[in-house]
Amino acid sequence: MKAAVYKKYGPPEVVQIAEIPKPVPKENEILIQVHTATVNRTDCGFRSAEYVISRLFSGLWNPKLPVLGNEFCGEISAIGKNVKLFKTGDRVFGYNDKTFGAHAEYLLMDENAAVATVPENLDFATCAALTEGAHYALRDIRAAKITGGQNIMVYGATGAIGSAAVQILKAMGNFVVAVCNSQNVELIRALGVDIVVDYQKEDFTKLQHRFHFIFDSVGKTSFGACKPLLLEKGIYISTELGKNWQNIFLALITPLFGGKKVLFPIPTCTKDDILYIKDLAEKGKFKPLIDSEYPLENIVEAYKHAESGTKVGNILLHVKAEE
Ligand SMILES: NC(=O)c1ccc[n+]([C@@H]2O[C@H](COP(=O)([O-])OP(=O)(O)OC[C@H]3O[C@@H](n4cnc5c(N)ncnc54)[C@H](OP(=O)(O)O)[C@@H]3O)[C@@H](O)[C@H]2O)c1
Repeated sequence: MKAAVYKKYGPPEVVQIAEIPKPVPKENEILIQVHTATVNRTDCGFRSAEYVISRLFSGLWNPKLPVLGNEFCGEISAIGKNVKLFKTGDRVFGYNDKTFGAHAEYLLMDENAAVATVPENLDFATCAALTEGAHYALRDIRAAKITGGQNIMVYGATGAIGSAAVQILKAMGNFVVAVCNSQNVELIRALGVDIVVDYQKEDFTKLQHRFHFIFDSVGKTSFGACKPLLLEKGIYISTELGKNWQNIFLALITPLFGGKKVLFPIPTCTKDDILYIKDLAEKGKFKPLIDSEYPLENIVEAYKHAESGTKVGNILLHVKAEE
């Protein structure tokens, strides 16, 4: 089968299209013919190994698994003999940052992992981008114990994570202030947020609102800058480590004092998370933003775009050629 393979860590050019053996499902596995995947910041992080810590999972010197791609949408082409939840021909979507593999024509998933059937009312392209940004957002929203009726700021609402976060938070019934650039004010307003702050025209730290939770979904501000805007026991979470890894340090120290604090949740993604996201998407409460689309052959260009830090939402990778 055709796959985007990387044999060493480095820039986008380390990824090359190659022929590799088609995998065979074990007893509890499903074999998915990938229609569409995404190229996202998780792929970029593992491919570049910019944060050395990722090598603990992917291989110290060279990548152990040659194919990246963590979110996908496609069709089941074969199942293991003990599979009960799915059948051949089912259209499925999901997330896999354990063994990756979605940047290839076929992908294996355990039937109990983060994979679910595609809702009738959604297309492959939408479903391919449902999970990466949304599962990080969901993890952090839950860590901050947000359930509804709270005041939240999402800093960097145009990213895959930020644009998913504002939609999930609004679906829960929160008051949401979103910070983004001038160009995307109307796009982000259309996601249903209560107030949009254009960071190119306005200093968000001068806002009069106070927040239960500030979610720095692009890792571009800091606890120090946000602290005056937090309510007494308000929580700050960033998707980045921060300057000198300060967010790790602050997550260890600030909870000891009982006031405003930083959390640094470890991301995970279960089938239940996927089903929660599916339910929102099915009801029209969450629709991933699509920035651009590339064929598998142009994956190097897709990577360059993904790590430019300028994408608005998600970048689709079409793996199955149009018939
Ligand atoms: N290491 C990993 O495995 C991993 C995995 C997932 C995510 N992450 C991190 O999580 C963060 C978010 O990822 P993502 O995929 O959601 O989005 P992303 O690609 O990082 O977000 C890009 C968006 O962020 C906006 N942005 C950039 N600087 C900004 C600023 N100073 N203020 C407000 N908006 C700003 C950009 O708009 P402008 O045009 O206005 O700049 C752009 O629309 C990234 O920092 C990423 O590295 C890391």
